[in-house]
Amino acid sequence: MPTMISRVLLIVLCGVSAVLGQSQYMGMNIAGFDFGCATNGSCDFSTMLPPLTKLGGSDGAAQMQHFLDDDQMNTFRLPVPWQYLTANVMGGDLDPTNFGKYDQLMQTCLNTTAYCIIDLHNYGRWNDLVIGQSAGAPTNDQFAALWAALATKYKDEPKVIFGIMNEPHDLDIVEWAATVQAAVTAIRKAGATTQMILLPGTNFSCAVTFITTGSAAALMSVVNLDGTTTNLVYDVHQYLDFDNSGTHSTCSVNTTAGFAELASWLRNNTRQAVVGETGAGSDSSCLEYFCAQNTVIQENSDVFIGFFGWAAGSFATDYVLSMTPSRATNGKWTDNTLVSECVIAPWLVNNTAAAAKYSSALTAIPTATSSGASSTSTKKGDAGSVRVARRGIEVVVGITVIFNVII
Ligand SMILES: *[C@@H]1O[C@H](CO)[C@@H](O)[C@H](O)[C@H]1NC(C)=O
Ligand SMILES: *[C@@H]1O[C@H](CO)[C@@H](O)[C@H](O)[C@H]1NC(C)=O
Ligand SMILES: *[C@@H]1O[C@H](CO)[C@@H](O)[C@H](O)[C@H]1NC(C)=O
Ligand SMILES: *[C@@H]1O[C@H](CO)[C@@H](O)[C@H](O)[C@H]1NC(C)=O
Ligand SMILES: *[C@@H]1O[C@H](CO)[C@@H](O)[C@H](O)[C@H]1NC(C)=O
Ligand SMILES: *[C@@H]1O[C@H](CO)[C@@H](O)[C@H](O)[C@H]1NC(C)=O
Repeated sequence: MPTMISRVLLIVLCGVSAVLGQSQYMGMNIAGFDFGCATNGSCDFSTMLPPLTKLGGSDGAAQMQHFLDDDQMNTFRLPVPWQYLTANVMGGDLDPTNFGKYDQLMQTCLNTTAYCIIDLHNYGRWNDLVIGQSAGAPTNDQFAALWAALATKYKDEPKVIFGIMNEPHDLDIVEWAATVQAAVTAIRKAGATTQMILLPGTNFSCAVTFITTGSAAALMSVVNLDGTTTNLVYDVHQYLDFDNSGTHSTCSVNTTAGFAELASWLRNNTRQAVVGETGAGSDSSCLEYFCAQNTVIQENSDVFIGFFGWAAGSFATDYVLSMTPSRATNGKWTDNTLVSECVIAPWLVNNTAAAAKYSSALTAIPTATSSGASSTSTKKGDAGSVRVARRGIEVVVGITVIFNVII
């Protein structure tokens, strides 16, 4: 991340009335195809770990089923880099082999009945060149052609959601809005006329700076073929360590006022957002800040219609931001404390129907084996080294909290 200290002090808006009921799209990032991607939009495929056992990675299929069955989640975000989809050819067609592997993950996700998000995990770039803005970079037309190809594949799948780009940064936001528009137009013209499309802003789509970076305003111009903004939803991300990098085990940024401010802006402008990525370490400072943040998000679920934790999939259970569940020898999955206390609990608190079906807290404490095979060490671990998974021993506090919530 470019800047170190969050210095954003935003107005706390009191008395904003929240609509009861919780985020409609609730789920998890199932990472692995993105392992090896850096924030400059370069990707090293040698560290890629697709989150399917048959592709050599973690058991993403079983994780998704767990999140659905035990946690009542309904949406998964599936990161993949552009270079992989076109076998490293800038402006190239979808590569049948590589796209075929990604499509296996997509089909596995769709088969669970969940909503499934294509997340193009390129930070607005191709090998350090900003799409549509740097000399030698992919043009907006090439970017639109990629999205036309993906939309053609999935136009008949109402539960596929198109995530235009992961975390653009250090670019001209007005020009970027034109790039996003090119992708939206291509998706709609390819026949995917109704599916949700996620619109990313600059500064890594940072939620608490979405207004001040001009992202919120610039993306207002992006429209469907008929000029409406139906199902064009903002994509905001947030980490809570001191530099918003998502690489530290402690949290020190209070994001509640920032989310409240963004909720107010969205409501005033009749727009909605999903929190496409948010995550935290698991020490006590993170439990405090992350739980508080996610409570505010759920209290504003009329405008924050989606929430996707970062991350499970091929991350090990000891990755600094791990939300990877542990599988006991009896096959039962258990979420870690961060997930049960700060992700699930705020979502279930006013969600009677989902709470009645929630079962994760009732599963036995595992003598866990890890499902994740690898974790990585730079920003949110997209690029980096393999570490050994550690046993999960985390569940007790989560049980207490969930019982308090349900009873
Ligand atoms: C980007 O977000 C970070 C973290 O919230 C913040 O510290 C920084 O000031 C932001 N940068 C810009 C240009 O707004
Ligand atoms: C699809 O879902 C069904 C029902 O849950 C399951 O039995 C089957 O194994 C799944 N197939 C794939 C390819 O995931
Ligand atoms: C992008 O960043 C990675 C990791 O820092 C580095 O190894 C790579 O050389 C960079 N690529 C380009 C094209 O700048
Ligand atoms: C975070 O900010 C909110 C709103 O400004 C405030 O009510 C809350 O006490 C703060 N939390 C911490 C831990 O400082
Ligand atoms: C939303 O509108 C209200 C009422 O006009 C105003 O007080 C508030 O500041 C606006 N929020 C934002 C973030 O602009
Ligand atoms: C749950 O509902 C109560 C009562 O309306 C409200 O005060 C609280 O903020 C809600 N909590 C969440 C996380 O939505």
